[in-house]
Amino acid sequence: MKKIAGLLFILTGALSLFAFQMNPKAPSKTIDRGKIVYNNYCLSCHMPNGEGVPRMTPSLSKSKYVLGQKPNLIEIILLGSEALANEPNRTFKNLMAPLDNLTDLEIADALNYVRNSFGNKTTFIYSKEVKSVRLKVGI
Ligand code: HEC
Repeated sequence: MKKIAGLLFILTGALSLFAFQMNPKAPSKTIDRGKIVYNNYCLSCHMPNGEGVPRMTPSLSKSKYVLGQKPNLIEIILLGSEALANEPNRTFKNLMAPLDNLTDLEIADALNYVRNSFGNKTTFIYSKEVKSVRLKVGI
């Protein structure tokens, strides 16, 4: 019996160590998490400071889309360039692919980072708002 208890003790210890290593410092705040999502999924096109690339990719700093209506902005992430197809004066040579494979929380976090970085400062977006836009556009 003692042996089994000892074994269980070691096993649960090892398991919790494993869980800790899988997720060493899970950031708890939306902007901190959003920075990680941004670095993984947006930075390659929109650049580290959100400045974009002239004629290729728009800057996200003070962008009217970033600071504008939340559902429109969420749609840009879910549908990519398709969401901007009817907007006037779009001259970017690059295309933005849909990023609907990200979770609702990842999208909300990334947008909260973008909406509160690069000189932007505005209200938070919640994952339930992403969910309702996803339902609206049917993806
Ligand atoms: C493959 C490159 C690429 C990736 C990756 C990408 N974008 Fe884009 N993004 C673009 C391009 C190009 C446009 C302009 C598209 C157009 O006008 O058709 C754009 C447009 C936008 C706009 C509209 C901005 C404006 O003022 O015109 C926003 C907001 C945006 N992207 C946010 C993001 C976020 C947030 C991510 C990551 C979750 C992301 N993008 C990932 C290339 C990319």
